[in-house]
Amino acid sequence: MLRGKTIVVGVTGGIAAYKAVEVVSRLVKLGATVRVMMTKNATKFVTPMTFRTISGNPVVVEMFEEPRVWNVEHVSMAEAADVMVLVPCTANVIGKIAAGIADDFVTTTVMACTAPKLLCPAMNHNMYENPVVQGNIEKLRSLGYHVLEPEYGRLASGAVGKGRLPDPDKIVDEIVKLACPKRDLEGVSFLITAGPTREWFDPVRFISNPSSGKMGYALARACLERGASVYLVSGPVALTPPPGAVLRKVETTRQMLDACLELFPDVRVVIGAAAPCDFAPSVYHDQKIKKTGAETTVTLVPTPDIMKTLGQQKGDRILVGFAAETEDLESNAIKKLAEKNLDIICANPVHRPDSGFGSDTDILTLFYPDGHKEDLGLVLKEEAAHIILDRIKSLLEADVRH
Ligand SMILES: Cc1cc2nc3c(=O)[nH]c(=O)nc-3n(C[C@H](O)[C@H](O)[C@H](O)COP(=O)(O)O)c2cc1C
Repeated sequence: MLRGKTIVVGVTGGIAAYKAVEVVSRLVKLGATVRVMMTKNATKFVTPMTFRTISGNPVVVEMFEEPRVWNVEHVSMAEAADVMVLVPCTANVIGKIAAGIADDFVTTTVMACTAPKLLCPAMNHNMYENPVVQGNIEKLRSLGYHVLEPEYGRLASGAVGKGRLPDPDKIVDEIVKLACPKRDLEGVSFLITAGPTREWFDPVRFISNPSSGKMGYALARACLERGASVYLVSGPVALTPPPGAVLRKVETTRQMLDACLELFPDVRVVIGAAAPCDFAPSVYHDQKIKKTGAETTVTLVPTPDIMKTLGQQKGDRILVGFAAETEDLESNAIKKLAEKNLDIICANPVHRPDSGFGSDTDILTLFYPDGHKEDLGLVLKEEAAHIILDRIKSLLEADVRH
């Protein structure tokens, strides 16, 4: 499966370093050329000799050791990589990469590498949940690094929490996906909406919602990985758009609709992953409303329904919507599916910390016009994005046959 591919494995100084031996062994069995580099601290957990023996290749630890052949070794290793994977990846190395530090062989090679990079963080759960570590991971994700979430379970310290390195099988699956990407959406044009909208009622105040845009941006990234072209119409979010997406920044629901209507003729698939405000203040005050101590009232009027408007002029396009619900998830989703003339609606509860606004995961159920539904359970937004694209791909194929 990996014949002809070079996988560069970076091992850093975490207790799960021993599991990297199994990852390397499986990659070799799949036919990959595996080149291992280690941080100095990683060698305290597993010796380079183990990796040298399993990979059949020299292992590099020192930045300034005499190279075996005359080349700049970190550059040659970076260039040879079809995929680079850091397994396990310490909080320290995550922080260094996010900060642009290249002070040893592993971090320098990561910086010189343009191939897809997969980070497999593993650490104590308090370290993993530390906002600094989370912020660094978020930054790296937005820069295009792939991050395999650690799992929940018993950790080396005896504590139970999120921080365990996933099984080698799962890591190898991710590496295979990156090394042999599906380009199955080549030539398909997508319009994806993401993030919240803002409806202003004076120059300094607006109503909005906590949508982070993560789902829409994950969808855009997944489309681009699979060869599609993407218009990304985005409300205000703190995410970096994936390289290759054509970004249209908007603020209000009306602006989001106008951008969608303009781009609509050029696309085959629309995914409405944004959370546009359903209401806007009826009056906009040119000057800041003064605080007088008295009660005040803001009257809200409905904004245009973006997906419903697009659904009315659908043609042969595929339309996929999202339904964020706090109650009656199923009946509300089915109603919206019909009202908006959608091909799939992805429904998620938004009153749980692991689903909806801002989280990296969603509890998703997909509903289809023929009445069947598909429960995806708790999934990472990246995983959900690929599953939704798989379903869209099937609809496109069914369309071509008719
Ligand atoms: C026994 C032991 C286990 C450790 N396990 C981890 C770990 O699982 N994850 C982690 O991020 N750091 C862990 N550390 C801390 C790192 O080794 C430390 O941050 C070190 O500076 C990492 O160096 P490196 O990132 O250059 O490999 C551990 C330290 C010790 C002594």
